Amino acid sequence: MSEKFIVEPSGPLRGTLEICGAKNAVLPVLAAALLTEKPCLLQNVPALSDVDSMSLLIESLGARVAREKNTLTIDAGDVASLKASYELVGKLRASFLIMGPLLARFGRAKVPLPGGCAIGSRPVDLHLKGFAALGAKIDHSHGFVTVSAKRLRGAKIYLDFPSVGATENVMMAAVLAEGQTILENCASEPEIVDLANFLNSIGGKIRGAGTDTIKIDGISSLEQKNITHNIIPDRIEAGTFMVAAAISRGDITLTNVLADHVKPVTAKLKEVNVLVEEGENGVRVYCDPCREIIAADLKTLPYPGFPTDMQAQFMALLSTAQGTSVITETVFENRFMQVGELKRMGAEIKIESRSAIVEGVEILTGTQVAASDLRAGAALVLAALRAEGPTEITGIHHIDRGYVDFDSRLRELGASITRADAE
Ligand code: EPZ
Repeated sequence: MSEKFIVEPSGPLRGTLEICGAKNAVLPVLAAALLTEKPCLLQNVPALSDVDSMSLLIESLGARVAREKNTLTIDAGDVASLKASYELVGKLRASFLIMGPLLARFGRAKVPLPGGCAIGSRPVDLHLKGFAALGAKIDHSHGFVTVSAKRLRGAKIYLDFPSVGATENVMMAAVLAEGQTILENCASEPEIVDLANFLNSIGGKIRGAGTDTIKIDGISSLEQKNITHNIIPDRIEAGTFMVAAAISRGDITLTNVLADHVKPVTAKLKEVNVLVEEGENGVRVYCDPCREIIAADLKTLPYPGFPTDMQAQFMALLSTAQGTSVITETVFENRFMQVGELKRMGAEIKIESRSAIVEGVEILTGTQVAASDLRAGAALVLAALRAEGPTEITGIHHIDRGYVDFDSRLRELGASITRADAE
């Protein structure tokens, strides 16, 4: 049964909230667990439908996955199938990340080409170019791509774009290659560092994660040192609740946040007159009642630039700021899906090529809107907190993919939000 959120105008959100483990860290780590035949224990795992989908996928290959609250144990000792099903991959683009580990450990993998999604065509050419550079044979047929190699050989690979997924997939493949692989112009997101730390804990030899050059010294077999890995906090969930504090003119303290990971969002919030205090284990976001939230220009970039996954949420905030903001999306080709719905709530936004010109308005008004993707959905909820009159948001399964109990945790902070069956 599909569900919707009903959001009433909510006053300033106040309180303390613990941030969950990062969706975009645990998904590649789940794939990486396929590299080893020994069990791995993951802690601080968020209860998300995307995590369930990835777990089902690796179980379909023959691995065993056991969930116990916020921990997941994966045992890939008996992996037998090297082919991922269309149904399972169709649910989750990140499924493509199983290719690197399967190719490295078994010399073969067959995965349906992931389709596009609301935010873009989402090609995987950089993943495949990386595998080919390591000596893999790439075959396409009937919508599946098969990669195979007797043994991968280390290579020097320059990524045309610092793709997060391509960096992760090729790094995982290179762990068991013969010789050294140097990945240049690669992604440096915190989730890459978390994956490299996991790979090193199961015996990989990776240096440079978090910079634009990663060196992987290939080994013939893994000497697993330990089996426990703690997933880093979700910087995008943290950023989303930071914006919730700002748009509601509230005062929220977030714990289990690595302040470094949310620096681009902190800097942008301060630029628009929101106050942010960084502490040991978290951040506090609040507003000075004597200062208006003002406009600011924003351009999304690969880390450590402003994250594309925070663009929609920040657009909701700037829709209620004083002045005109220009938001430029440089990472995905179609990531303004929230604009049409925000305009129906009274926002003044004009799209010109890859930029959105946002004229801040005093009042947004509640209405019926639909979430098209995870972050656009979160942006609509944030806008609804500030809007006059009730807002109904359908398509909230998109939101449940990336936010644990989004409605109940917002309610804990004072939001008037309920979940109901969509008629
Ligand atoms: C990861 O997606 C994240 N997903 C995305 O988060 C995030 O938006 C994105 O990185 C950018 O930070 C996960 O980690 C599971 P990319 P990914 O490869 O790896 C192009 C969310 O909301 N590209 O860095 O797919 C691509 O089309 C999700 O949590 C190629 O051209 O992102 C895009 O324009 C959404 N060829 C750009 O690079 C390729 O082979 C960035 O994509 C690969 C990518």
